[in-house]
Amino acid sequence: MRVTGTGHASMRIDTAAGSILCDPWVNPAYFASWFPFPDNSLLDWETLGQVDYLYVSHLHRDHFDAAHLTRFVSKKATVLLPEYPTSELEDELRELGFTSFVKTKTNEVVELDGGLNVMIQALTSPTDGPIGDSSLWVEYGGVRLLNQNDARPSDLSTFAELGHVHAHMLQFSGAIWYPMVYELPQTAKTAFGKQKRDRQFDRTWRYIDDLKASHVFPIAGPPCFLDDELWQFNDIFGDEGNIFPDQSVFMREYAKVGGTNGVVLLPGSVAEVTPDSCTTTHPTDVDEFFANKKAHLEEMRERKRPVIEAEKASWRHPEIDVLKEMKRKIEPLLDESMYLAKGVGGPVRFDLVGSSSDGSGGETVESIVVDFPGKQVRPYGDEKVRYRFRTERALVEHLLHIGEVDWVNSLFLSCRFSAARIGQYNEFVYAFFKCLSEERLQYAEGWYDEHLKNADKEDIRLGDWVVQRRCPHLKADLTRFGIVEGDQLTCQLHGWRFDLSSGRCLTSVGHEIRAHRAE
Ligand code: FES
Repeated sequence: MRVTGTGHASMRIDTAAGSILCDPWVNPAYFASWFPFPDNSLLDWETLGQVDYLYVSHLHRDHFDAAHLTRFVSKKATVLLPEYPTSELEDELRELGFTSFVKTKTNEVVELDGGLNVMIQALTSPTDGPIGDSSLWVEYGGVRLLNQNDARPSDLSTFAELGHVHAHMLQFSGAIWYPMVYELPQTAKTAFGKQKRDRQFDRTWRYIDDLKASHVFPIAGPPCFLDDELWQFNDIFGDEGNIFPDQSVFMREYAKVGGTNGVVLLPGSVAEVTPDSCTTTHPTDVDEFFANKKAHLEEMRERKRPVIEAEKASWRHPEIDVLKEMKRKIEPLLDESMYLAKGVGGPVRFDLVGSSSDGSGGETVESIVVDFPGKQVRPYGDEKVRYRFRTERALVEHLLHIGEVDWVNSLFLSCRFSAARIGQYNEFVYAFFKCLSEERLQYAEGWYDEHLKNADKEDIRLGDWVVQRRCPHLKADLTRFGIVEGDQLTCQLHGWRFDLSSGRCLTSVGHEIRAHRAE
């Protein structure tokens, strides 16, 4: 089996029974904030795009690049489709011209022509990706590969049961806005960032240990930030609180925990994987490349500047009355929302910053509140709010202009905002803003209904405590992911913490855990 690195989470898998292109992403995503690093735009995409199969793991824009798929990927390719609750991924791909689909069933192996076996595991909680994230398992000629990309299954046993895996590709770096955008003192930001960075690595080691593959490939990030406004997010300043460590840092950290089987793929690297070996060739020296990371980024920044400027020029739509449009779009959804609205539990404020029209160069700020308990969108009324987001007015104008249904997969991932909140992280806020369509909202409401009603009843013993077996967050098995220290339990899947004496979740509102001291 041959694996060609094509940047970020993307790769091309070649076997004698056919080729699979996974998640090709080249164009900037999320309001021109994220670019693939190392740059993959100069690869021979005309050739790489001539494939038998296409796999798009999910609809996040650093995995689903509509412009690139349209231009470079053969429409004769058969799409390997994860089993998602909504048809959005299929609809989007059909719109781009793909007509042939293998609709997989989650966790069921599909035998394709020529003895090529694949299995896709779809995760379908409202907090997984843009409603859905997935992993692809491939087997051919006695070689097995798991492209886990950025999916976070509660464990990897389903894949492990299919036989020893030779190549395990997984995410290890950050892909979120926390804590950078929060209005916090720098020391707190650094401390939270460091915790997050450590947790990301801990989770990665756990997955690696779960599968025990012959070779481990760090993929799916980090992106790079080329706009001057976001440049500080690149991990080139020796900041231990930066959540975007790159592949060279992965290799260093992996070595510290005894890892000796890591393989870095640059765009254009080729790994030949057999049951007994992995031989890799690279387009350039990998260590030297990362040693010169800053220079590479600076060169990219200059080259991509016109792309960013062109995107920025398309965002403003001053003719849009933002308050009126947000009311029209969001109020009917608030009316229908039970679990999400209750979960948010308070008003969420958007401060939209524009430039004044009097030519003074001054700033205007319009404050709009999405009032979850009151089920309305209205001007801010000098009240306490649960969350406050401050962003450029033009970004929200653009979201409304294009009818964006997922503000997480656009505005929030862009990191082009700042945020403050009272109290803990609230997953329902982000779940709601990724569900700005009837279909998505209904799905999310139904999911919470089902999962909250069917809370797991099994208990386990962890240290001095008896706790429910499944994590109240996303049901990770706490016999594997739960660590108890004193009265606190940490679930290592996403790092959520619980106070066992009160049952309170210390990371997010709601999500109480059932626990009592063992006799
Ligand atoms: S499943 Fe997310 S923290 Fe436990």
